[in-house]
Amino acid sequence: MSLHGRDLISIRDLSREEIERVLSTAKKMIPYAEGTKVTHPLEDQIVAMGFFEPSTRTRLSFESAVLRLGGGCITIADASATSMRKGETLHDTIRMLSGYSDAIVIRHPNEGAARLAAQVSDKPVINAGDGAGQHPTQTLLDLATIAEAQGTLSGLRVVLLGDLKYGRTVHSLAHALALFGAEIVLISPPTLGLPEEVAEHLDRMGARVQTEAQLHRAVREADVLYVTRIQRERFGDEAEYDKVAGSYRIDNTVLAGAKPRLIVMHPLPRTGEIAPEVDASPHAAYFRQAFLGVPVRMALLSLTLGPKGG
Ligand code: NCD
Repeated sequence: MSLHGRDLISIRDLSREEIERVLSTAKKMIPYAEGTKVTHPLEDQIVAMGFFEPSTRTRLSFESAVLRLGGGCITIADASATSMRKGETLHDTIRMLSGYSDAIVIRHPNEGAARLAAQVSDKPVINAGDGAGQHPTQTLLDLATIAEAQGTLSGLRVVLLGDLKYGRTVHSLAHALALFGAEIVLISPPTLGLPEEVAEHLDRMGARVQTEAQLHRAVREADVLYVTRIQRERFGDEAEYDKVAGSYRIDNTVLAGAKPRLIVMHPLPRTGEIAPEVDASPHAAYFRQAFLGVPVRMALLSLTLGPKGG
């Protein structure tokens, strides 16, 4: 199906073929994202960024993507500087944004907020992270990173490490990995395993999923080690966070037994889960991963808003 004019709320909204179309378009976008070639399919279009939760990479790479495509942005980077401070609802704020733009990118602390925005807006809505829910565009750039490094998305063994309960990036990524037939290995503190809904969904898909307690063993057999931050802001109780903070740390010793082609990924920000010494290792893929956010978001925006659609 064409992506033109469509919302992207959950990665489950996309078929395998649609994901592949975004990824192949993203590959072609790389020189445009780097600024060595110029293209303006979004000329005269405006994309609204509604970021009601902190963001560095997601917002800036979306803005960079819009600008590289010749479009313009209007941005809420801090909800406390808007009329929401005066009590305006998300519903009304989204109604305004849809009148001022051709598409809305939204990040919000509440799960389900992007779905609500899509119901209110008559313009396409892209979910840039809704609470502990979904983060579909992160998944697209995660897949682009894996495909670039490994040359394929199938037959891979991918370790998902960290906060699997509140980490929205893994909720989206696990679905996509299952769609491409990867073997998924889960490692987390016992209290931070995958939410039941996600685990059951993977089960229904017939995904190959296993839980592992031994980090060293998992790393030895992995093609991808996807590290996540413990999502401190989602804990109701700070004492609960303290119990699991610093549960794991990837350093060169942990990676010593890894396959030469293992890549270490992280959606970032990192807060101690990956030692800075790993940055210089050939396994480190997280900065490339962050850069690929630009061509991937360019691809998605041009397919959603561009003249011919896709
Ligand atoms: C992630 C997020 O916001 O969910 N960051 C990102 O978008 N690159 C991961 C995180 O905050 O830990």
